[in-house]
Amino acid sequence: MKWINQSLFRRLLISYLFIFILGFGIIGIVISTSSKDYLTDQKRQEMLQQAGSINGAIYHSEVVTPEVLLTIEQLGEFSNSNIWLFDDSGQIVATSSRQDIFVGEPISDDLLKEIMDGQNRIQVMDIEGEERPMLSVIVPWGSNEQIHGGIILHSPIAGINSTIRNIREIVQWAIIGGLIIVTILVSYLSWSISKPLKKVEEATNEIALGNYSKRVEHDNQFSDEISELIKSFNRMAEKLNTIENERGTLEKRRNDFIANISHELRTPLTAMKGFLEALQDGLVKDTESQQKYYAIMYRETEYLNHLVNDLMDLIKLERQDISLDLYCVHLQEIIRKVALNLQPSIESRNNDIIIDAPDNIPPVIGDSIRLEQIFKNIIHNANKFTENGSITIKLEEHCKDNVCVKISDNGIGIPSYDVKRIWERFFKVDRVRQKKERGTGLGLAIVKELVQLHHGEITVESELGVGTTFTIFFPTQRKKGYE
Ligand SMILES: Nc1ncnc2c1ncn2[C@@H]1O[C@H](COP(=O)(O)OP(=O)(O)O)[C@@H](O)[C@H]1O
Ligand SMILES: [Mg+2]
Repeated sequence: MKWINQSLFRRLLISYLFIFILGFGIIGIVISTSSKDYLTDQKRQEMLQQAGSINGAIYHSEVVTPEVLLTIEQLGEFSNSNIWLFDDSGQIVATSSRQDIFVGEPISDDLLKEIMDGQNRIQVMDIEGEERPMLSVIVPWGSNEQIHGGIILHSPIAGINSTIRNIREIVQWAIIGGLIIVTILVSYLSWSISKPLKKVEEATNEIALGNYSKRVEHDNQFSDEISELIKSFNRMAEKLNTIENERGTLEKRRNDFIANISHELRTPLTAMKGFLEALQDGLVKDTESQQKYYAIMYRETEYLNHLVNDLMDLIKLERQDISLDLYCVHLQEIIRKVALNLQPSIESRNNDIIIDAPDNIPPVIGDSIRLEQIFKNIIHNANKFTENGSITIKLEEHCKDNVCVKISDNGIGIPSYDVKRIWERFFKVDRVRQKKERGTGLGLAIVKELVQLHHGEITVESELGVGTTFTIFFPTQRKKGYE
């Protein structure tokens, strides 16, 4: 039985054929037995009628006259049966086919009694000299008032048997023909069921081996269970593919991130190591150079500190590990405070700072420490990339439910092809441009996350050599749906 289990196709085919043969076999047996009963019954009725008709023709004669003999001969020939007459003593007195050997023979007493009582009898009789089994019908001869004897009508049952044989033959051929048609149909049906399942199985194996782009082809116009299964399978494969791609992207992002951190850490550490070695080996003798070396090392340490702080912030933001202390805050105050803190650095680069922040600007909902961080980063950038220029900060109410802050500078600007990338972690337009004031490249990535955390929006416009403008929208308390 093992081979039966090997393929769904075979199992379906065998099951269908078995059901078909069983079904048709039962139908065939039922038809042939019921038709035999039916035909025998028909024959009996027919013979009873014939016997009645014979009696109708001869009932008035009490004895066998030449007319009676002629009548039964003619009727016997006409109905293809033998007719015998017996009298009230139970002796056969006439036969239709001149089988005189039976004339004078007695019939059984119980039969005679039954007939003389006015009853009919039907029985299968074996008649001497007759090979075929005969169906015999015996009815009284005469009228109800006076019975003269009985009429026996014999007819071969071979006719019924041959009809049944014919029916059986037809049923057999119908089963064979049906079997051929059913085999073809069932083969097609089984094939159409097992083929797509086979395809799904193959695709599953391929996906298991890592080929996530594998899909199962299907005809869109059908919506049966197998098509639905294939569609669901493809949807699942698509999802797996997306997850796998996302995993790949995430993995790449993580690796890039680690590579960037390592690079950013290694540069200052290598520099510091070099200077320390020089100082340790006594290679730098004069105090002026030594002071210079210490100053560089101090700057590098500051940078490292700055980098680690930025990294901590970024990781916390990405993990959504930062909670804001939300209050109603006036951005004018925060911006003025940040500008004041940065004043020495702004002056050192010979820049002007102009703040246009009317007092009637509504407060926003925010965390003042984080808002300070946002403005510090942007104003610091503006100052870093501008020399002998000006930084303008303009606050205005926008559409009643936002406060818009524009921070513009007329510094070196950002090349158009890099504008989109400035939000990426560790991205710096050109490392050569910022030799003195080295940045981590994390500032704007942090700013963007912080603005989003405040339900705000930040955009940038810049032109190389002309200047840069950052525009930030913060929702006010009045903004609908702001929580
Ligand atoms: N106001 C600006 N003018 C010109 N370039 C800018 C300005 N602000 C940002 N950038 C560019 O975007 C890059 C990313 O900024 P940021 O994330 O703050 O990093 P960092 O300041 O540490 O370099 C900067 O390196 C700089 O090239
Ligand atoms: Mg910066």
